[in-house]
Amino acid sequence: MADKVRVGFVGCGGIANFHFGHMEKIEAVDVTAVCDLVDERVKKASERFDATPYEDYRVMLEKEELDAVYVCVEPSAHDGMELLAIEKGCHLFVEKPVALSMDYANKVNAGLKAKGLINGAGFQDRYLDFVPRMKAWLDMQDIGFFNGYWVGGMPGVWWWRRRETCGGQAVEQTIHTFDMARYLFGEVVAVQAMGRRGIMDDVENYDTEDASAVTMTFESGLIGTIYSGCFSGCGGKNGIDVFCKNGRLEYTERGGFKITEKNMTIEAKTGNDYGQEEDDVFIEAILSGDPSDIISTYDEAVKNLEVVLAANQSMDSGGELVRLR
Ligand SMILES: NC(=O)c1ccc[n+]([C@@H]2O[C@H](COP(=O)([O-])OP(=O)(O)OC[C@H]3O[C@@H](n4cnc5c(N)ncnc54)[C@H](O)[C@@H]3O)[C@@H](O)[C@H]2O)c1
Repeated sequence: MADKVRVGFVGCGGIANFHFGHMEKIEAVDVTAVCDLVDERVKKASERFDATPYEDYRVMLEKEELDAVYVCVEPSAHDGMELLAIEKGCHLFVEKPVALSMDYANKVNAGLKAKGLINGAGFQDRYLDFVPRMKAWLDMQDIGFFNGYWVGGMPGVWWWRRRETCGGQAVEQTIHTFDMARYLFGEVVAVQAMGRRGIMDDVENYDTEDASAVTMTFESGLIGTIYSGCFSGCGGKNGIDVFCKNGRLEYTERGGFKITEKNMTIEAKTGNDYGQEEDDVFIEAILSGDPSDIISTYDEAVKNLEVVLAANQSMDSGGELVRLR
């Protein structure tokens, strides 16, 4: 490997710019190539890093000697870039949701494992500094159930309003809440979901659920429901409420947590740049060859995808129980 980790980006839109900000702060990184289908995006990114611009990732991967590739495209655009990057021996960071089909995600996962490549996925909330404290308290509790929420307005990107391009809200957005639930509570064994439409009647070309409720059973026996809603311009809520025998924990997505016990409350707020941490840890793993600090791996992302796609399957059937294991 060269002195610096040579990074290439496929996709230079919203989330790529989040990572660009982090890349600029990591001395050991050289963003050498950037690729997007939109001219002005790739031009801006190439000027920012003095990187070679590409329109076609196949050409980029053929011409460049990259150590790592970040895939930051919309959910329906994963059309082989990961597989080609793996073929070229590149370490891989993929934004969530990592695909819209289990077949594709499993193929990428198998490729990463077969080649022993370092990998990460965009579930940055796992790197929030207070999560270990929250997890430690929960591990000592008898939990009854939890409710999770991602309720807010509709994102503005063109691809969001259609199920075929975004996967639906649970798949595209609330997957962060599903990820945190899996991180805190373990594996999901069964999923049952209901969705409804009809509130977003003022959005052109819109064809996905406005609201959904996904109830899950975990391997531990725990049950919980995660709600998604994109109809609320104000008064939304993002996070997880956990109800235990000896208290209650309120996790506010990316904000902090509050534990209420009989005679005591414990509160914590976010104290770190967890997005930066996610990228620092990924690059550090490439430099050291040791991936053990990466807590948001591609493998974890595939497990999240399995849960949210099962939720879609259940929703589409009017609430059938989908067993995962
Ligand atoms: N981790 C997070 O918190 C977070 C936040 C926002 C978005 N995301 C995820 O990141 C992904 C991208 O979202 P975004 O908001 O950046 O979308 P975006 O539309 O702003 O950017 C996606 C870019 O990918 C480009 N693209 C698509 N196909 C391509 C191809 N074959 N080759 C090169 N470029 C291609 C598009 O032209 C576009 O510029 C989505 O899966 C989204 O869910 C994650």
